[in-house]
Formats: sequence, structure tokens, C-alpha cells
Amino acid sequence: MRVVVTGAAGFIGAHVVQHLLAEGKEVLGLDDLSGGCRENLPDAVKFVERDCTLPLDDLFEEFRPEAVVHLAAYAAEGLSHHIPNFNYQSNLVGTANVLTAAHRHSVQHFVFTSSIAAYGHPPADRSFTEETECKPCDPYGIAKYACEQHIACFHEYYGGPSYTIFRPHNVFGPKQNISDPYRNVVGIFLRCVRQGIPLPVFGDGSQTRDFSYIDTVSKCIAQSLTVGASCNEVFNVGGDQSWSVLKLANEILQLSGSDVGVEHLPPRQEVMHAHADHAKARKVFPGVFEQEKSIELGLAETWEFVEKQTVPDPTPCPAPVENWEKLPPSWRKTLSL
Ligand SMILES: NC(=O)c1ccc[n+]([C@@H]2O[C@H](COP(=O)([O-])OP(=O)(O)OC[C@H]3O[C@@H](n4cnc5c(N)ncnc54)[C@H](O)[C@@H]3O)[C@@H](O)[C@H]2O)c1
Repeated sequence: MRVVVTGAAGFIGAHVVQHLLAEGKEVLGLDDLSGGCRENLPDAVKFVERDCTLPLDDLFEEFRPEAVVHLAAYAAEGLSHHIPNFNYQSNLVGTANVLTAAHRHSVQHFVFTSSIAAYGHPPADRSFTEETECKPCDPYGIAKYACEQHIACFHEYYGGPSYTIFRPHNVFGPKQNISDPYRNVVGIFLRCVRQGIPLPVFGDGSQTRDFSYIDTVSKCIAQSLTVGASCNEVFNVGGDQSWSVLKLANEILQLSGSDVGVEHLPPRQEVMHAHADHAKARKVFPGVFEQEKSIELGLAETWEFVEKQTVPDPTPCPAPVENWEKLPPSWRKTLSL
């Protein structure tokens, strides 16, 4: 099977490519390298540096993929309030463009990584199930939910491609981007430890998340190309273990032997507790969840990887800030420079 993977040089993309290659699939990786790096992929993988919001017909015509795994996106949820145009261009327009190219070139199956952000605020004391009504509360979540609806509507109208939609949450592991100061709290904390600066925690750090080691997520995504029961379905995917952000910070400090401590920043407007139920994915992707690593073990493996890495320069914000109001002061400082 020939598979195009967009965002292949990114964190989740690189792991998905690894599983697909191990299953004997032929892969074409596509990435504009705005957030990922070529070194995340084996040299032998076919790779094209391309912005997936631009025309893709030449690539699809030459490679003739049977499936597409679309991961390319700029996934900075909190920052998306402040760069809405860029957010919708990257996440929504990019997805529409890749899906159109896929259909035009007779791709049979389209896999999309949405996000738990599609749900918005959780129902009181309950986990999100795939039945929970989606009421996204930031432009990133709105774009992801709009993509989901576009993909389903496209399928209904044109009769194809079939699709699988995943809603991952707080994924971490080796190869994750630690250079972006505006997204992924595990990456931000690991970078701070390497740089010897305090770990920034918004508010008191009592926000809770189910931090998810990469393996469960990347294996389900790769398997969805061959598991028939995943066709035209939406799945929450990730870990079941819930930690507060403060606990995460303290565990990372302890694991790395760092004494930089935590810097509490003013709270920002965000979802306080986000937890997803994975019963549906557990049924359809048997064997994957049984091998799930604890956050402690996953963090240890991630730290082992990050410890050996050269600390990259911070990635600049990918677009000019459109709305300065309510920007967290710590971000305002770096973005004004
Ligand atoms: N990591 C998480 O916790 C998480 C959670 C939920 C959903 N997701 C989704 O999973 C997908 C992958 O996320 P990730 O964590 O691997 O992020 P990542 O930044 O490591 O990977 C995304 C990749 O997409 C590439 N990219 C961005 N815009 C592009 C464009 N216009 N054209 C081509 N390439 C482009 C980047 O260079 C990067 O390599 C994203 O769609 C993200 O929204 C991630």
C-alpha cells in the first residue's frame, strides 16, 4: 500500500511513518519543516518539502497513493486565539486542500488527526466520549472540528474517500518538538530543564490532563489503514492516566535532577480538566492499549532522548500576532521582541 503522510517530519508523523514502514507500506513523507525536522525520519524514506496548503497534484500524480495520513498542522491551541487567520489557514484550509488532492487522485482512505480540543469544556466530572457534544472553545479546536465535519460531508457528497478521525490529547515522547514556546507543556518543560530556567506554570498548576505516551497514538493511527472497523469513525486516542500540570513539572524536575524549580504565571483562560474515554478505540484496536506505557516510564524514555539532543533555538511564532488583547504576559514579552 502506498501512503502519503503529511507532517511526516513532525513528532507523531515520524512515529507513524516508522510503524507504516515496519508493516511494509511504501511511504511518501510531506512536510514544510516549519515544526518538524528531516532527521526525525530515516534517510531512505521518500520525502518532499512542501507546504500542504499549496497545490499537491504533481506529487499525488507521481506517487499514486492509496491512503493519506494527514497530520500537518500548527497545533498551538492557546496561541490560536491570537493568530486566528494563520490557524485556520494551516489547520482548516490545509486539510481541505489535502483532501481535495486525495480525492482527485483516487485515494481510498483518509486519516485525520483532530484533537480533544474539538470538545471544548468538559461536562462536569465526566470524560469526553465520542458521543459528547463538540463545543470547541478556541480557534484551534474550532478548526479541528470544522475539518472533521468537512471530511464527513465530503465523503457523503462524493462517496469517498473513506476516513478515520482521531482525537488525541497531550501526546509526548521522543522526537517531540521542544523548541516551540507556545505549545505542548511536556516539550516546554523539557526545554526549560535543558536551558536551566524555571518551568512556567499558568496559575497554580492544578489543571489536569491525560498525558499520553506516543506509542498508543501512533500505533492506532498506523493500524487504521488496515482495520476495517475504523472506517468512517471518530476515536479518542491516548493515555488514561491523569496528572496535574504541577505534578508533571515536579516529576520532570525530579527525573532530570534539576533544581530550577517552577515559576507560577498568572492563570490563563483554558480548559481546566480534560479527560477522554478510550473504550471505543480499545475495542477496535486490540492489543495497542494493553502495551500502554505509564507516564513515568514514558517520561523517562523521553528524557533519555532529550538529554542527548542539542537544544534548538526557540521557534518564532509562525505568523504576526493579530490579537494582542489577553495574550499571556510571558508570551507578550517574547512576541514583542
Ligand atoms: N501532540 C499532541 O499532543 C497532539 C494532540 C492532538 C492532536 N494533535 C495533532 O496531531 C498532528 C501532529 O502533531 P504533532 O504533535 O506531531 O506536531 P508537530 O508540529 O511535531 O508535527 C506537525 C508537522 O506538520 C508540519 N507542518 C505544519 N504546517 C504544515 C504545512 N502547511 N505544510 C506541510 N507541513 C506542515 C510541521 O513542520 C511538523 O513537522 C497535528 O495535526 C496536531 O494538531 C497533536
